[in-house]
Amino acid sequence: MKRSIVCRCEDIAEEDVLQAIEEGYTDIEELRKKLRIGMGPCQGRVCLPLVAKILEKKTGEKVAQIPTPTVRPPLVPVPLGTLASEDDEQES
Ligand code: FES
Repeated sequence: MKRSIVCRCEDIAEEDVLQAIEEGYTDIEELRKKLRIGMGPCQGRVCLPLVAKILEKKTGEKVAQIPTPTVRPPLVPVPLGTLASEDDEQES
């Protein structure tokens, strides 16, 4: 069966979004928490506009009126070597 992927990062198809809307998840924040839409490496740049259009079609609410989640990037980029370092484990 052919799936229409909406969120490539989290492998979420349009059918998954439509089913969640049928279950009562009718805003992007709720859909994000249920399906992890927008939580992948692209932080929703690809999928959130698509989900907003699907919501517009299903709920009749205009895309411009649908609130989008706030993107919260790290304040300072952290190198992976710092995160994977064993030095911190030995200090605590
Ligand atoms: S496509 Fe959805 S988070 Fe990247």
